[in-house]
Amino acid sequence: MKTLTLLGIESSCDDTAAAVVRQGDGPAQILSSVVVGQNALHQPFGGVVPEIAARAHAERLDGCVAQALADAGLGLSHLDGIAVTAGPGLIGGVISGVMLAKGLCAATGLPLIGVNHLAGHALTPRLTDGAAFPYLMLLVSGGHCQFLVVHGAQEFTRLGGTIDDAPGEAFDKTARLLGLPQPGGPAVQDQAAQGDATRFALPRPLLDRPGCDMSFSGLKTAILRARDGVVAEKGGLTRQDRADLCASFQAAVVDVLAEKTRRALQAYLAHQPAAPLLAVAGGVAANSAIRAALQQVCAQADVAFLAPPLALCTDNAAMIAYAGIERFRLGQHDSMALAARPRWPLDQHSPSLLGSGKKGAKA
Ligand code: KG4
Ligand code: ZN
Repeated sequence: MKTLTLLGIESSCDDTAAAVVRQGDGPAQILSSVVVGQNALHQPFGGVVPEIAARAHAERLDGCVAQALADAGLGLSHLDGIAVTAGPGLIGGVISGVMLAKGLCAATGLPLIGVNHLAGHALTPRLTDGAAFPYLMLLVSGGHCQFLVVHGAQEFTRLGGTIDDAPGEAFDKTARLLGLPQPGGPAVQDQAAQGDATRFALPRPLLDRPGCDMSFSGLKTAILRARDGVVAEKGGLTRQDRADLCASFQAAVVDVLAEKTRRALQAYLAHQPAAPLLAVAGGVAANSAIRAALQQVCAQADVAFLAPPLALCTDNAAMIAYAGIERFRLGQHDSMALAARPRWPLDQHSPSLLGSGKKGAKA
């Protein structure tokens, strides 16, 4: 197989990232991966502000690319192509990345390869572990929640996803309601470890309905009500109340993800994969209770479980460079007409999901 070295560029949400990935006959190698986050910029607003994100990307992208090339010890002339996230995401940020990639390609003559951000996440198990098709992917982050059967680099079946919020948003909102720091996931997880998960009876949304679709916005409201109930009764929240609320919330998310994963595995196993595998991606996959539950569901179904290193589960450009390599090997690349797309479902045949959260379209 021809050795390919691609630069990847990612700017679809609140991380500005550039990376260089090389693949020949063996496993892919990440030669460099630079990620510059924007948490501090958005912190005062309690969520990602699209205009601030777009401006920060525009200001930082050149520096990230220069750093990624320097870390890899390469110049533009050593590259075989430039891959860039062309959607889905916050459109101002996506445009910043696409314009930079087009400029670099126009100047160097290198091929331009537009990559779907979700394909980047979905192909990460191949970048990290050489996973064989078809595998099942659960993408759970602050912006996404969906089950995908990954049949090929360009071929995905979406089995279901959230119809409203992503689980990460629910963790973040819960933290905010309880006065815990952002991002809320790690804080809620820490509190939950000291709490009683049975104290508050929270809903398990959509478990009563068949299929793999999920809903997390009702859980936020349920937490708000439970909190207000305690406050009305006692005049405030004790440390234990807070821990119990976190534990009850996390248990509800775990139950929903575990049961929907059971169903998704059944649908996936109907494709008769030779080496069945469930892989996760997204920041919420860092949650140890969720991981443990998914691992157990997989063990029961005799399916291997893979959680790539966290830095490659969350937004990064190595996954974009790698997805670009896979696409380029299929003989595909783009012209200067490549468009930045706010919505871009991976599975064009499945009905589009409702809802567009603060981090952009859920696709
Ligand atoms: O994939 P990611 O880094 O970024 C985007 O979605 O853009 O995911 C971030 C999300 C946040 O909502 C954060 O609260 C959540 O992942 N998260 C967690 C944990 N660590 C991060 N949620 C639950 N438990 C965790 N340990
Ligand atoms: Zn992402």
